Amino acid sequence: MATTGNRSNIKLLLAFAGASAALVGCDNGPPPAAEALQTSSLAADSLRQDLADRLGYRPLSREPIPQPTNGHIVNQAAAVRLGKAFFWDVQAGSDGEVACATCHSSSGADSRKFNTLHPGRDGIFASGGVTGPNQTYSPVLIQNDDVVGTQGVSRRLFVSINPDPAIANDTCTPVVDPIFGTARRVVSRQAPMIYGAAFFRTLFWAGEANPRFNGLDIWGFGANNTVGSIADMGNSALASQASGPPGNGTEMRCTGRLLNGPNSLATKMLARPPLQFQRVSRTDSVLGRLANPNGPGLRCGTTTCSYRKMIEEAFGPDMAADAENIFSLIWGESVQAYELTLIPDRTPFDRFLSGHRRALTPKQRAGFEVFTGKGNCAVCHAGPMFSDATVAFYQEHGPLNRDGGDQGFHNIGLANSRIDGGRGGLGAGNAPISDSESLFDDWAFKTPTLRNIKLTAPYFHTGSYPTLDDVVDFYVRGGDFANSQISADIQPLDLTSEEKDALIDFMANGLTDCRVEKQRAPFDHPELVVVNGPHLPAVGRNGIGPCQHDDDDDDDDDDSDHHGGHDD
Ligand code: HEC
Ligand code: HEC
Repeated sequence: MATTGNRSNIKLLLAFAGASAALVGCDNGPPPAAEALQTSSLAADSLRQDLADRLGYRPLSREPIPQPTNGHIVNQAAAVRLGKAFFWDVQAGSDGEVACATCHSSSGADSRKFNTLHPGRDGIFASGGVTGPNQTYSPVLIQNDDVVGTQGVSRRLFVSINPDPAIANDTCTPVVDPIFGTARRVVSRQAPMIYGAAFFRTLFWAGEANPRFNGLDIWGFGANNTVGSIADMGNSALASQASGPPGNGTEMRCTGRLLNGPNSLATKMLARPPLQFQRVSRTDSVLGRLANPNGPGLRCGTTTCSYRKMIEEAFGPDMAADAENIFSLIWGESVQAYELTLIPDRTPFDRFLSGHRRALTPKQRAGFEVFTGKGNCAVCHAGPMFSDATVAFYQEHGPLNRDGGDQGFHNIGLANSRIDGGRGGLGAGNAPISDSESLFDDWAFKTPTLRNIKLTAPYFHTGSYPTLDDVVDFYVRGGDFANSQISADIQPLDLTSEEKDALIDFMANGLTDCRVEKQRAPFDHPELVVVNGPHLPAVGRNGIGPCQHDDDDDDDDDDSDHHGGHDD
C-alpha cells in the first residue's frame, strides 16, 4: 500500500456522530440522547428527531433507493420478473443445481452446515468437529484460520452446454481439487444477507463489485477491469455483482464457461424454459401470474415461457435479438431490478422511528442507547442500513473514513482476517481494490448491515463467530488481532452484563423484518432444492405465516410509504 492513512476527516465525522455517539474512552456519563430514551414519550419524540438529524437513523422506508442510471430496461415489472426467474433458476449453475438463491435462501444468507468449512491458508480443517470436506460443522468460536463459508460446485473444466434442453448439467471434465477433492468447493467468505443490498455503494466484503457496471464483469472501469465494456451504468453495484458468480468456478460454473457468445451460459438459458424444474406459487408476488398451475415452470399465455420472450418484454426486441452476445448485461441488469425490490424496511426499529413508541421494549431502547453511546457501534453501523458503506453515507461524508481508509471499510481486528487482504488486496488486474490505498484498508472489510442479524448466524466474513454474544464479547475485548492498521474506533469497552444483554436484545429483536422470517412478499420465492440443505417449497406472497403488523400499516401516516413488495 502506497500511502499512510490520514485522519483529516475525523472532525467532520465527530460532528456527524454528535454528542450521543460518544467516543470510547470518554467517561462523561451517558450521552444526552440516550437518557431521553428512558423518559417520557415527549422525550421519545424528540429522540427520534435527534436520531434522524444527527445520527441519520431514519425509517428505511423513507430512504430513497439509489436508482441505476444509463440502463436499458423498457419495462421495469418485466425486468423484475426476469431477474427473479434468473435468481432462482437452478439451471444457471454448471451442475444444474446451484442457483444464485442456493447460497442466499436462508433469510438472504446461507445457513447450511454440511460441507461449508473452508480450511484457510494452512489447508487443515480444524474447527467444529470437521476434519475434511463433506462433513457437518457444529457452530463454534473459531480462532484459527478456518472460515465458515458457503458451498458451490465441485471442480470441473467446461467442455460444452448439453444440447438436450432437458439436461441442465453442463458437460465438464472433473478435476481433483487439492483441498476439496471431488467434493463441492467452499468459498472462503460467508454469504452476506442480501436484502437491502441496493443501498450499498459497492458490494462483496471488500467492495470488489463496482458501482459502475461495465456490462461484462464486477470490476467497473478501474485498473482491475481487463475485459473492456459493453455498457456504463451508474449506481449499479448489484448488476456488477450479479455478473460474478456465474463466471466463478467455485460458486456456479465449470471453469471456462463464459456468460456470452456461442456455447455459453447465454446459449444454455436461451434454450431452456425458465425454472423448468421448479414449481412457482400462483400467488408469487412477482411470478404468480405466469405460474404453471399443473407443474413446474412458467406459462406465457398458452405456451411455456422462454427467456428470449421475457428478455424482449423487459429490454425490447433489439436487445432480445442480440441476447446471446450481451447476456451478461441482461443478466446483471434484470437481477439488479429484482434485488432493488428486496428492502427489509419493516422492523420494530423502523416502526419505533415512525412513531410507534412501544415497537421497541424499554430493554431494547436501552440496548440502542448502548449501541449509539458506550458501545460506539453507531460510528460504523450508521444510518438506516446500520452501515457506513451506503451510497447516501458516501455522498454525505466523502470517500475517506475516520481512520483515512476507504469509506465503509474497516479493519476491526478479526484474527482469521489475516488470510484475506480484504479492501487492501488486489483485484483481477493485479491492481489495488482500495481507492485511497491507505494502510487502514489492509484486512478491512465492508461494514455489513445489522438488519435481520438474528436470522443470519454465523457472523463476520469469516463466519467464525457463532452467536451475537460472541460478537459483543469480541468488541468488548477490543478485537482479537492486534495490528497497527486496526481502526481507532475498535477499543476495549466497559459494558456491564445488563448493557450487553440489552445491546443483544436490540440487535436480535429490534432489527428483524418479519416478512423475511416468514418468506412473505417481496421475499416469497419459487421452489428450491438447496444443495446439501433443505427442500424449500414454492411460497406465495403470504409466505409461511402471518406477521403481526401486516395489516396495521394505515394506523399511522408515518408508516404508509413503505417500499413494499413488488407487484406486477
Ligand atoms: C456458492 C454460493 C453463492 C452463490 C451461488 C451466489 N452467491 Fe452471492 N454471495 C456469496 C458469497 C460467499 C458472497 C460474499 C463474497 C465476497 O465478498 O467475496 C456473496 C455476496 C453477494 C452479494 C453482496 C452482498 C453485500 O452486501 O456485499 C450479493 C448482492 C449477492 N451475493 C447476490 C448473488 C447473486 C445475484 C447471485 C447469482 C448471480 C449469487 N449471489 C450467487 C455466495 C454465493
Ligand atoms: C470501526 C467500525 C466498526 C465498529 C466501531 C463496530 N463495527 Fe460491527 N462491524 C464492522 C465491520 C467492518 C464488520 C465486518 C467485519 C468482517 O466481517 O470482517 C462488522 C460486523 C459486525 C457484526 C456481524 C455482521 C454479520 O453479518 O456477520 C455485528 C453483529 C456487529 N458488527 C455488531 C457491532 C456492534 C454491536 C458494535 C458495537 C459494540 C460494532 N459492531 C462496532 C465495523 C464496525
